[in-house]
Amino acid sequence: MPASATVVARASPATIERARSALSAGGLVAFPTETVYGLGADAANDRAVAKLYAAKERPSFNPLIAHAADLAAARRLAEFSAEALKLAEAFWPGPLTLVLPKLRGCPVGQLATAGLDTVAVRVPSHPVARDILAAFGRPVVAPSANRSGRVSPTSARHVESDLAGRIDLIVDGGASPLGLESTILACCGRTVLLRPGAIPRETIERFLGHDIGVAPPALPSPASGRGKGEGGTGGGRPVAPGMLISHYAPQAHLRMNATSVSPGEALLAFGATLPHDAGNARMTLNLSVRGELVEAAANLFNYLREMDGAGVDSIAVMPIPGEGLGEAINDRLRHAAAPRHHAVQTTRPQRAS
Ligand code: TXA
Ligand code: MG
Repeated sequence: MPASATVVARASPATIERARSALSAGGLVAFPTETVYGLGADAANDRAVAKLYAAKERPSFNPLIAHAADLAAARRLAEFSAEALKLAEAFWPGPLTLVLPKLRGCPVGQLATAGLDTVAVRVPSHPVARDILAAFGRPVVAPSANRSGRVSPTSARHVESDLAGRIDLIVDGGASPLGLESTILACCGRTVLLRPGAIPRETIERFLGHDIGVAPPALPSPASGRGKGEGGTGGGRPVAPGMLISHYAPQAHLRMNATSVSPGEALLAFGATLPHDAGNARMTLNLSVRGELVEAAANLFNYLREMDGAGVDSIAVMPIPGEGLGEAINDRLRHAAAPRHHAVQTTRPQRAS
């Protein structure tokens, strides 16, 4: 990450305006929520979201939570079932995140949702978060404002020690009162607990008058440890597979580190120098002609979807360097290239993020 000066400013009308303007310009703004500090970016701007992943050094593209100013704004992003609406009306604004089917025309970009057809939505209650969302007027994605693998920040100081020089602005609104992330429920059919958080499961079950499912235990992973205030998926009673798809995979077969192209393949290029037989490609999309990883990340899911939409059977992917955002890009492509053992993908374990 190129170093740049990070401004730390106490919350005030002038700081809210500064936050609005930085978000509009594709910048990164950390701000307090009632749970933890979030690192915000314009959800519709894939390039800004790519910079956000780079600042956090996330080794993979976990989908992000879109924060909205109020329920009316949230309803412009996703399809609310009757139960989802009931939950939103009861617990918003507050520490509840709902994973819902993305609406057609939802402005949240492909990178923010990691190519999924669902979107996680939350209306925070912290007055500073609400002021920023109201001023910006559009959804803001905000993962916890820590570097990947570190604890979630509950003060501007924590954010500064992790992200100074990597982001544009830190809005200091004092300590986050809850200090624990939002509870995440998927409401895509049956209501399922995806991440335990600030609202206990029992509270939700009592409110709904029935038990909620819990996501299946995470698959073994070298770094699936939780207990850092950041959850992956919870363990517990099983739910039907397929409800919890957490990673987009294209229909087409993916061939990584391709240095040649077979007739009829699509070519997912990177950089200015194409394979000698690139003319064989049925279609070519270049993630970044300049070989720039932020641009490549911003284009990744859009291009995979475009190739799937064109009905290609095989995608030859040129080598992409592994450093910086290249790690997350290659991680995503590797998962997409792996043979499918299951008809549907279920949630993968998540590292602290
Ligand atoms: O309290 C919070 O929720 C904080 C504050 C800043 O709002 N945010 C937060 O974001 O914890 P993050 O990115 O650290 O965690 C988001 C979680 C991830 O585990 C991600 O996998 C899950 O939400 N998630 C997001 N979109 C999803 C989707 N469409 N389907 C399944 N899981 C999703
Ligand atoms: Mg996090």
